[in-house]
Amino acid sequence: VIYPDSEQAAIAVARQIADLIRQCETEGRPCVLGLATGSTPTRLYEELVYLHQHDGLSFRNVVTFNLDEYYPMAPDSLQSYVRFMHEYLFDHIDIPTAQIHIPDGTIPQAEVNAFCQRYEEQIRAVGGIDLQVLGIGRTGHIGFNEPGSGLGSRTRLITLDHITRTDAASDFYGEENVPRRAITMGVGTILEARQIVLLAWGEGKAAVVKRMVEGDMTDSVPATYLQQHAHVQVVLDQAAGAEL
Ligand code: GLP
Repeated sequence: VIYPDSEQAAIAVARQIADLIRQCETEGRPCVLGLATGSTPTRLYEELVYLHQHDGLSFRNVVTFNLDEYYPMAPDSLQSYVRFMHEYLFDHIDIPTAQIHIPDGTIPQAEVNAFCQRYEEQIRAVGGIDLQVLGIGRTGHIGFNEPGSGLGSRTRLITLDHITRTDAASDFYGEENVPRRAITMGVGTILEARQIVLLAWGEGKAAVVKRMVEGDMTDSVPATYLQQHAHVQVVLDQAAGAEL
């Protein structure tokens, strides 16, 4: 779906998510959302906060799982995804803290594998993800599944691509400060979501959007694996869709 601009796109996706939250509430079951960070979903989160404050949308029935976190990363650090999510969303809505899940960037290395397995089990225990929000990196990553991430990959520690670290350099006041690794849900984890909404804005994403949508499925562009999901929406502004 190509919208005239990212503002209209973000508002439309927020309404779609609000409808899903209300539908789950009516059905008396939890609404499980997979959430992304980065600059792309910020307007979407702002709109969800607006709907909470002005349209009676409650998140008491929502369970969230974030895609990824830098490793190592302290939760109160400026660049942490824990901090990001609280700043843009969680601090402004009525979601119970126990229903929020974000990969823990402070876990000792020897315990990371067990932590990742537990993360997967927690997703399964609540019935799987109803709707997964995704952005896309210039390397074709979803979450932090860099080139080389296969279809069957699960939540794990991954080494970040050079391009990803360059793109994150300004957030960290220099590339040398960007962590070399991250914990991310796998491609296989993401594809198990019942519904996926990938967002991309701006001309900087146009080339990778074209590869994702029109290119062959390959682990050198992990986002191409979305082509085989039965219920995925790619939501773009004009600039991001310009090369399609
Ligand atoms: C980071 C995140 C991804 C995100 C990507 C794009 O690497 N881990 O989940 O999709 O960046 O970021 P942005 O939305 O800022 O372009």
